[in-house]
Amino acid sequence: MLQSVETNQITPPAKTQAEYTALLHTVLNARYGSAPRAFVHTYGCQGNVADGERMKGMLAAMGYCFTDTVEDADLVLYNTCAIREHAEDRVFGNVGALKNRKAARPGMVIALCGCMMQQPRVAEKIRVSYPFVDLVFGTHVLHRLPELLYRTLCGAGRVFELPDEAGGIVEGLPVVRDSSFKAFLPVMYGCNNFCSYCIVPYVRGRERSRTLEAVLEEARALVKAGYRDITLLGQNVNSYGKNLETPVSFARLLREINALPGDFRIRFMTSHPKDCTRELLDTMAACGKVAKHLHLPFQSGNNRVLREMNRRYTREQYLALVRYAREVMPEISLTSDVIVGFPGETYAEFQDTLSLVEEVGFTSLFTFLFSPREGTPAAKMPDPISREEKGRWFRELTDLQERVAGGRNQGLLGRRFRVLVEGPGKKEGFLAGRTEGNIVIEFPGDSALTGSFAEVRVTEALAWILRGQLEAE
Ligand code: SAH
Ligand code: SF4
Ligand code: F3S
Repeated sequence: MLQSVETNQITPPAKTQAEYTALLHTVLNARYGSAPRAFVHTYGCQGNVADGERMKGMLAAMGYCFTDTVEDADLVLYNTCAIREHAEDRVFGNVGALKNRKAARPGMVIALCGCMMQQPRVAEKIRVSYPFVDLVFGTHVLHRLPELLYRTLCGAGRVFELPDEAGGIVEGLPVVRDSSFKAFLPVMYGCNNFCSYCIVPYVRGRERSRTLEAVLEEARALVKAGYRDITLLGQNVNSYGKNLETPVSFARLLREINALPGDFRIRFMTSHPKDCTRELLDTMAACGKVAKHLHLPFQSGNNRVLREMNRRYTREQYLALVRYAREVMPEISLTSDVIVGFPGETYAEFQDTLSLVEEVGFTSLFTFLFSPREGTPAAKMPDPISREEKGRWFRELTDLQERVAGGRNQGLLGRRFRVLVEGPGKKEGFLAGRTEGNIVIEFPGDSALTGSFAEVRVTEALAWILRGQLEAE
C-alpha cells in the first residue's frame, strides 16, 4: 500500500505521494493513451536492486507497465552505481545513446537516479552535456518518485532533486520484485565505515536501520507469498540496529526471522570482518534456516594495505574469524571481495593476498582492480604501478582462485545437496540450482521445478560449475 510520506520530506509538498500517484493516472492517460511503458535498469549492488524494485512498485501504482527494450519505452529510468569508474562509463555510454531515441520519440521521459547522481560532478555533467535528460534524483528521495515525475511531466523544465542528507526511512512503499521465489530485504541503509577507497558513505549517507518490526513484517509477507530465499541487505549488517531507539542486534534479528514458520532460507550481506562477532557465527550455527554461507570481504591479505584501506582488522584477526566459523560450522561456504592494486601496494604485499586465498579456500571470489573515486582519500594516494602490471597480478589471483575452487569442487563429487531451483541452466535441457553454500549445480530436469527445493547428487565437478542428477526427497 502506498502511504503518505509527507513527514519525511525536506520541503513539505502540496500533496502526498499517494495523491501524486492518483494524479499521474490521469496525466499519463492523456499523454500516452494506453498504459505507458517503463524501462527500468539497475546497476550495482543488491541494495540498489532493492531500490529499483521499490521504484518499479511506485511506477506500477501510477499505471506503468514494464518493457525490456528502450525502443518502445515512454519512460527510461537508469538506477546507477558509482562504485568503480567502469560502472560509471557504462551509464554515460547508455545515456548518450538515448539522444537519438528521444529525438525520434519526443514524448519519452529520461530519468537518472542512484549513487552516481549523488556526486555533484556527475549531476553537473548531466546538466550541461546531456540536455535531453529530463529528471535526475538522488538516493535519498527515491520515495518521492511520484511527485518528481509529476513535476517533470507537468512542469516547465528539467527536474534535479539531489539533497545531501538522508531523511528518515520511508516504510510501506509498494514493490515489484524481479523474482517470485528469491527476495532482497534491506535491513539498513548507508555506511559509517569510510574505507579509504570507497564512495558508498558519500553517496548513501550514514547508517540507518529499519525497525525490527518493519523487517519482520516484510519477512513474514515474503514467506507467506512463497519466497524461498531471503537475503537481508546492508553495507555492514553487523551494525544493524545499533542506532535504533531500542537497540537490536543483528544476531537477534536473525533469530527472529529464523523463528518464522515456513520452508525458506535466510542469507545476509555484507558482513564486515571488523564487526563480525563470535555471537553472530554462533547464531548462524544455531539457526537452521540461516544458510551456512558467509560473504566476508577481506580486500587484502596484507596488514599495511589493510591499514591504508582503513579496514580496521588484521590478516590474523580475519583468519581467526574464519577458523572459528569453521569450528562451529564445518560445512560453511565462504566468499569474499578483493581489491588488486590499491595505491602503493607492492608485488610482495600482493603475495599476502594470494597466500590468504590459498589458506582460506573460498567458494568464490569477487575480484576488483582498484578504481580511484574522486573525493575518497585513496584517490589522492600515489599509485605508481601501471595498469598492465596490475592486470597481470589480477590474472594471477583469478588463476589461483580457479585452482582453489576446482580442488574444492572435486571434493564435492558424490555429495547430495538440497538446492533451490532457479531456472534454466547454461546447458540445454539443464536446470540451475543453488546450494545453501551458494554453489551452483546444473542438472537435467523439468522447468516446472523452478522456485522449489530439490535434492541433487553431484556427478561431475568442473572448475566453475558442478553438474548432478535429481534424487527423490
Ligand atoms: N560494504 C561492503 C562492500 C560494498 S562495495 C564491504 O565493506 O565489504 C563491494 C565491493 O566493491 C567491495 O567489497 C570492494 O571489494 C569493491 N570496491 C569498492 N570500492 C572500490 C574501488 N574504489 N575500486 C575497486 N573496488 C572497489
Ligand atoms: Fe564501502 Fe567500506 Fe562501507 Fe563497505 S564498509 S560500503 S567498502 S566504506
Ligand atoms: Fe554501487 Fe551504490 Fe551499491 S555505489 S555498489 S549501487 S551502494
